[in-house]
Amino acid sequence: MKGIILAGGSGSRLYPITKVYSKQLTVIYDKPLIYYPLSILMLGGITEILIISNEETIPLYKQLFSNGSHLGLSIEYAVQPAPNGIAEAFIIGEKFINNESVVLILGDNIFYGSLEFFYSGIRNNTGATIFGYQVTDPERYGIVEFDKNGKAISIEEKPKQPKSNYAVPGIYIYNNEVVKISKNLTPSARGELEITDVNKKYLNEGKLKVEKIGRGIAWLDTGTPEALLQASNFFGVIEERQGLKVACIEEISYYMKYISQIQFEKLINSIPKSLYRDYLEKVLRESLNQ
Ligand code: G1P
Repeated sequence: MKGIILAGGSGSRLYPITKVYSKQLTVIYDKPLIYYPLSILMLGGITEILIISNEETIPLYKQLFSNGSHLGLSIEYAVQPAPNGIAEAFIIGEKFINNESVVLILGDNIFYGSLEFFYSGIRNNTGATIFGYQVTDPERYGIVEFDKNGKAISIEEKPKQPKSNYAVPGIYIYNNEVVKISKNLTPSARGELEITDVNKKYLNEGKLKVEKIGRGIAWLDTGTPEALLQASNFFGVIEERQGLKVACIEEISYYMKYISQIQFEKLINSIPKSLYRDYLEKVLRESLNQ
């Protein structure tokens, strides 16, 4: 299973925060936004990851993650020259995906809570698996309609009259057919290759699973300054209360055994003296005392 993080888009709604800075590099509490989706892929057991972004931002991601080997990952990079839509990720990533299945996560999507929905989606996917999450503002998202038996019957992108409150979050699991499907799409009215059109194709062929994500899981938005502040506060409260970090990719690498204890120590030593380093030292100490 390969993983793609699509971290493109102009982020114009967050101007001037995004004037020189990519949205996915803005800070959520104590780390860049992109750490959160990256951590989700890592927890899903995905170690081969492609980050897609615009030409100006790719060098910054390379500075952040290099080739990922210090985290026990293989991270590659590719440019999306213009914001031509989410589904273009599968065309740009064709060689990287090769003949495997793929998870796509949007670089500005944050999930928190039990990830069992994601793990079982990965385990059980045959065609496409996407999710449904209740929101109060369905006009802003891809929206899925269910029949009485909970079976998905339609998906619409940003409908003016939504048929349900179930939005499709930016985390998608596909078999290898997704590359061919994306190549055959035509751009929508807004000029983009729509992920919703990919999902519709799977739906029409009877190969789409839509799993509802229930209570107890946070899918946070980062589209507005208020939403950024709320997300920062949310993780600030959780991290302060428990003394445990969320989306701490170095800790996750160690926990998932992507790196050995010696590699973890080396990694900690490469980090400047900071609260973040103190935390990782504590993680290491506690792991040795167990
Ligand atoms: C995109 C997708 C939409 C999905 C959303 C999740 O919207 O087109 O179907 O619900 O991501 O974040 P966009 O960010 O392009 O407005």
